Amino acid sequence: MKPVRKAVLPVAGLGTRILPAAKTTPKNLLNVWDRPILAHVVAEGRAAGIEHFVFIVGRGQSAIEDYFDHAFELEHNLEAKGRSAILADVTADLLEPGQMSFVRQMAPLGLGHAVWCARDLIGDEPFAVMLPDMLMAAQPGALSQAVAAHEAVGGNIVVVEPAPTGEAHKYGIVALGGAAPGFDGRLKQMTGMVEKPAPGTEPSNLFISGRYILQPGVFDALAAHARGAGGEIQLTDAMLKRLETESFHALEYVGSTYDCGDKLGLLRANVALALGDPHGGASARAAIETLLNG
Ligand code: G1P
Repeated sequence: MKPVRKAVLPVAGLGTRILPAAKTTPKNLLNVWDRPILAHVVAEGRAAGIEHFVFIVGRGQSAIEDYFDHAFELEHNLEAKGRSAILADVTADLLEPGQMSFVRQMAPLGLGHAVWCARDLIGDEPFAVMLPDMLMAAQPGALSQAVAAHEAVGGNIVVVEPAPTGEAHKYGIVALGGAAPGFDGRLKQMTGMVEKPAPGTEPSNLFISGRYILQPGVFDALAAHARGAGGEIQLTDAMLKRLETESFHALEYVGSTYDCGDKLGLLRANVALALGDPHGGASARAAIETLLNG
């Protein structure tokens, strides 16, 4: 079985739900506690063994390249001032030369279209898709849990979790069959999936939450450019097509997901990561309590 070495990160979205903050800053570079959302997601990918990150970007997002590259003047100044701890924190997020690629999506035609834009860079090997709006706090990371499932059963893995009551129609929803051995029954064969089901028609309450391991055959399905929910080219529809010939498993991961494409989700992520920080957590808690009691 080929290992999962590459990840596709679609970051081109306009960030409509967090405007005006996302007007001049790419939404995935907004901050969650101690670093940009995207730095948390890339760290999760690296911990899962990802060696090459393919960012699907739009116009005006070159700050993403700059974030993962050296900033010589900044690093030089920090060093000259003896700020070694901050310097180490800044450089910890850098990717190695050759570990990142940027593909312009050129037209906002949907998640499936964004993933399809990576086809030549992925080639003929299994790959991960990480939706960077979704910050998934977990130990081990959500993608590491998916990689473990892939090593156990192969094929395609989709990370899922229960949708908040009444919100299934906002997501991709899976239909499930029997459980695979291990994983405490949380890894189940998929029998179907539907993108943004009409309320009351959803086949389960489990939604596709933002981490996937896919076989490269999905690019054949995406090449049809069929339009689905919302008039967009949907990744879920392409996966459903591949389900006719390939195995798909849904993994209910263990962790907490924060939708940072939304103001409230971004706030929750900030509070949760601040409180969970082994160094700054106590002072964050004190600051929050002062606000709540004031
Ligand atoms: C996308 C996917 C959907 C998934 C969701 C998770 O939808 O198409 O299947 O459940 O991300 O956030 P979008 O958020 O782009 O509407």
